[in-house]
Amino acid sequence: MSKFIIQGGKRLEGEVKISGSKNAALPIIAATVLNGGKTTLYNVPDIQDVHTMFEIIKDIGGKVVKRHNKIIINTSKIHTYEIPDNLMRQMRSSVILAGALIGKYHQARFSCPGGCDIGARPIDLHLKGFEKLGINIKEEFGEIVCSAEKIIGTQIHLDFPSVGATENIILAACLGEGTTIITNAAKEPEIEDLVKYLNKMGAKIKGAGTDRVEIIGVKGLEEISYNIMPDRIEAGTYLVAGAITGGNIKLTNVCPPHIEPILNKLEEANCKLIIEKSTIQIDAPKRIKAVDIKTMPYPGFPTDMQSIFGALLTTAKGTSIITENIFESRYKYVQELNRMGAKIKVEGRSAIIKGTRRIQGAKVVATDLRGGAALVLEALMAKGVTEIDNTHYILRGYERIEEKLKKLGAKIY
Ligand code: UD1
Repeated sequence: MSKFIIQGGKRLEGEVKISGSKNAALPIIAATVLNGGKTTLYNVPDIQDVHTMFEIIKDIGGKVVKRHNKIIINTSKIHTYEIPDNLMRQMRSSVILAGALIGKYHQARFSCPGGCDIGARPIDLHLKGFEKLGINIKEEFGEIVCSAEKIIGTQIHLDFPSVGATENIILAACLGEGTTIITNAAKEPEIEDLVKYLNKMGAKIKGAGTDRVEIIGVKGLEEISYNIMPDRIEAGTYLVAGAITGGNIKLTNVCPPHIEPILNKLEEANCKLIIEKSTIQIDAPKRIKAVDIKTMPYPGFPTDMQSIFGALLTTAKGTSIITENIFESRYKYVQELNRMGAKIKVEGRSAIIKGTRRIQGAKVVATDLRGGAALVLEALMAKGVTEIDNTHYILRGYERIEEKLKKLGAKIY
């Protein structure tokens, strides 16, 4: 079992380079299917979720080659439209490949992520969007089978601005006939990055980053090279690593406008920030001030940073309240933090955090990617040694986290 041992209490200092964005890389890798040829990608994070997406591309007939700092993907010989069940189970977001396969081949077959029912959460919005595009959807032996003669442009209103549904509809519609308009679309920067990539290939998509995305179908897409945007959640995590250890860290390769809600909260908590075009330096006080957090779709405070701030606020002066408005059960990490001495009480969608100075190292278990990162942060500040089990969750989304933290002075093994 994968494990981290962390000796806490070390003030982190130095410079850290932020990697390419996981949530931009995944849909962009899926979208390489659309040009039926070669794509060269730069700044692709070397993390487990990206490896899983490569496995899927290879499984359906694509080629993935790593050369120095670039990844070359060739999708000219795709021979099946079925996303392998074992890989689909490993990573919920592999559903994004459905949109790309439908867009290119008008067909896709995949098992429902987590064995959900058609019509119920969590991909009902994706499927409703596909149906509106003229795609026929059937359920066969627990698999979803999508097929269409052609993709016809239409108006799609999303009941909720789902990131995955917005991306899947864009991918399915960009080679279709006529114009598709998505209203109440998600506005996350990763959608803008995906659309920048698609438009560079020759797609005609307007309005990404707003709640109205217009997709004008085109006949084909070109072979291009593309540089993936920096990971805003990784950036937020290292800023909090600075804040929680009373440290001084400079982030390079960041896009500050993408993380404004995070920066605002850190400033409210009394951290000093020096923000430049692609760097951010955080100078943290000995003890931060309590702040309240409410997660919201972008440009609100990101749900992926909820547990990261959950860890930070356990050490604050005063009581903080977190309200999780995006996902229902995103407080699994709380039990583990409380084992370390944190004082967190969960009531429905809220977590009430009473700041304390008495955080002690303990044996804890990562339950998910961001919850696992919260444990690492807590351990960096805790007195004594923390042993974190199930660190494979953390490695799904953080490139070389051990090495990066060590470079900042952390004692992590
Ligand atoms: C993406 C991100 C994830 C982030 C999330 C919200 C990727 C690979 N993952 O996930 O890191 O936490 O956005 O910012 O980019 N929902 C439905 N029906 C649907 C789709 C979603 O009810 O068909 C619900 C979900 O259960 C959840 C909410 O909508 O409660 C938000 O989900 P969504 O925006 O779709 O998140 P993902 O795209 O899965």
